[in-house]
Amino acid sequence: MDQLASHFQSHIAELNHRVAEIVSRENLSGLVIHSGQPHRQFLDDLDYPFKVNPHFKAWLPILDNPHCWLLVNGRDKPQLIFYRPVDFWHKVAELPSAFWAEHVDIKLLTKADKVADLLPNDIGQWAYIGEHLDVAEVLGFKMRNPDAVMSYLHYHRASKTEYELVCMRKSNEIAVKGHIAARNAFFNGGSEFEIQQEYLTATNQGENEVPYGNIIALNENASILHYTKLEHLRPDTRRSFLIDAGANFSGYASDITRTYAFEKNIFSELIAAMDKLQLEIVAMMRPGVKYVDLHIATHQKIAKILVEFDIASGDPQDLVDQGITSVFFPHGLGHMLGLQVHDMGGFLHDERGTHIAAPDAHPFLRCTRTLATNQVLTIEPGLYIIDSLLNELKLDARKSVVNWKTVDLLRPFGGIRIEDNVIVHADRNENMTRDCGLD
Ligand code: GLY
Ligand code: MN
Ligand code: MN
Repeated sequence: MDQLASHFQSHIAELNHRVAEIVSRENLSGLVIHSGQPHRQFLDDLDYPFKVNPHFKAWLPILDNPHCWLLVNGRDKPQLIFYRPVDFWHKVAELPSAFWAEHVDIKLLTKADKVADLLPNDIGQWAYIGEHLDVAEVLGFKMRNPDAVMSYLHYHRASKTEYELVCMRKSNEIAVKGHIAARNAFFNGGSEFEIQQEYLTATNQGENEVPYGNIIALNENASILHYTKLEHLRPDTRRSFLIDAGANFSGYASDITRTYAFEKNIFSELIAAMDKLQLEIVAMMRPGVKYVDLHIATHQKIAKILVEFDIASGDPQDLVDQGITSVFFPHGLGHMLGLQVHDMGGFLHDERGTHIAAPDAHPFLRCTRTLATNQVLTIEPGLYIIDSLLNELKLDARKSVVNWKTVDLLRPFGGIRIEDNVIVHADRNENMTRDCGLD
């Protein structure tokens, strides 16, 4: 906690600096950032789990309190309108007393619909930042999530403050505890559901606290990129295990994937080859390197692995050019990470919002930025046996390039993904995930 507290002041100073710059450029009085409102389930009196506006939790680690508002203009001490209703049905948020509370002026709001009384009189000069545009309109905001402000904030958010880096190291530390417990549960014979329970217990986080729905896939299920079923039955045989699971620390996400083979065999050798490849790509991360180039380099290395393991034959560059590697590795190399698992700003090339799309041949790549210091990204190459994609190869001459016997041999194992969370520094990169002791 001391480490967090000691970096918090400069974190707020940096956020204030960004706000001062953009409100002066846009001629605004300031920003009013809404934590959010609960979403009600259809025909019910229950709400979906509350997910706070990431722009709100960028300032304060308040993750579970809707109807809060933060007023910032870059000059004055931020003002927090903190929701504390009289409510005997639900838990009411405690009065803020954590290390961050001294950095804001706090006003209490007891009735959500009375917030207008606490907002500035010149509300038309302030920009609303949040999800509930109808609420903002009723309150008199003329500017709601203005593009210029959003682009500016999203572009600069890629550069993490020291406070944010501490949070992200912690969220890796927590997730790694879960991964170790999950690995043990796999080798001890657990079902996907049982492995999930072990993971959540070890991280001490509920399924609505972790930053995304865990992917816990045994055997063939590992080929389904976003598999979140959590089968309760234990499979008859146990061949492989892919786990993509993160943790949340003060609103910052980790996003980690590992793949295991139950026995030593061609699949375990393929995992070792992919692990080596993943570390080689991580080692290429430096300020000035284009993330797209890392993605292309990954395809070239995967092509070599396809040849080495007799999954495909031919010249590795031809395998890339013909789209063969994209069948085995159809997703992007990774993405920016932070307040959101897929953090905003991956395609922004300047603070004005110039968007650079992924190359046509790689439509699922989520980041086209040039690396710079203090960015945090995932590196997550994969190799899968996905029949719906392989079937397309069978329709043309590319069919003969693939060794279908090896594909059949690998199909029962599903696939492999290995994902680490990395900070780019000026002269090195910091692999937070491996530094926490996860092989
Ligand atoms: N867990 C989602 C992803 O790796 O991007
Ligand atoms: Mn992931
Ligand atoms: Mn990821």
